[in-house]
Amino acid sequence: MGIFDQFMITDQVIVITGAAGLIGRRHTEAVLEGGGIPVLLDLFEEPLAACKKEFSEKYPSAKIETFVADITDRKCLEGIRDKLLATYGHIDGLINNAANNPKVEGGSKNLGAMRFHNLPLDIWEDDMRVGLTGAFLCCQVFGYEMEKQKKGVIINISSDYGVISPNQNIYKKEGVPEEEQTVKPVSYSVVKHGIMGLTKYLATYWAKSGVRVNTLCPASLSNGQNEEFVKKISELIPMGRMSRPDEYPATILYMLSSASSYMTGATVILDGGRTIW
Ligand SMILES: NC(=O)c1ccc[n+]([C@@H]2O[C@H](COP(=O)([O-])OP(=O)(O)OC[C@H]3O[C@@H](n4cnc5c(N)ncnc54)[C@H](O)[C@@H]3O)[C@@H](O)[C@H]2O)c1
Repeated sequence: MGIFDQFMITDQVIVITGAAGLIGRRHTEAVLEGGGIPVLLDLFEEPLAACKKEFSEKYPSAKIETFVADITDRKCLEGIRDKLLATYGHIDGLINNAANNPKVEGGSKNLGAMRFHNLPLDIWEDDMRVGLTGAFLCCQVFGYEMEKQKKGVIINISSDYGVISPNQNIYKKEGVPEEEQTVKPVSYSVVKHGIMGLTKYLATYWAKSGVRVNTLCPASLSNGQNEEFVKKISELIPMGRMSRPDEYPATILYMLSSASSYMTGATVILDGGRTIW
């Protein structure tokens, strides 16, 4: 097989959680570019339908599956698994992408002055439920099918905050007293570090079953943040800029395909050098 051919994932069924979000849409693009069949899971019908429309126009002959799904609901995941197996007979990949991702720099509603000491327990528990329990359940339900098939790939999406701690200075608002400043919540750090534990555990557990499990750490995605925030975060990044969403699909396709056949348990960090500075 030629080197470029190794990047093809023709007709492979790849489940993507949180697929209607900012990066989830780019994972979908990666699967479609490789000739695979993306299975988009997200909470609401409307954004999923919009994704399906957008990608069906761009890739007219592609098969695209969408399911309204809460990944913390095992029964719901089992129903999707059964439908996929009935239609295609196999499930080849899983991208555990969904997580609560509070945009402290702006854009998230109702964050209030959320500091470590007053982070509500229900927010902590919900963050764990989506970011860790959801990923765990998806691995149980979809990953186990891959174990039985003796073939499959799982990518867990972490973050630069799975490697380093948030520098809260970049979220500080001018003229706001310290106790009223909102910080990136501890639950985000714990989820993003935790998902790497899931990767390492399963990478060894399934190493001889043909299922590879790796972590991708995206970082600092440019998404219309205000100028002051962009300046502050860019100063922490050796490359001096935030990332673009289109800088992820090629790496995702590499990680999904046989181009990365000897890689398991690895952490791939796309952060412009932030975590080494
Ligand atoms: N945006 C960034 O700068 C950045 C940086 C590093 C890492 N990440 C990671 O990338 C991943 C995606 O981030 P994003 O910025 O695209 O987030 P996003 O908020 O745009 O998308 C997340 C998606 O997950 C869905 N979701 C939430 N709970 C769910 C549930 N229970 N079941 C199914 N779907 C659910 C949401 O509806 C949403 O569409 C996250 O894991 C995040 O931690 C993002």
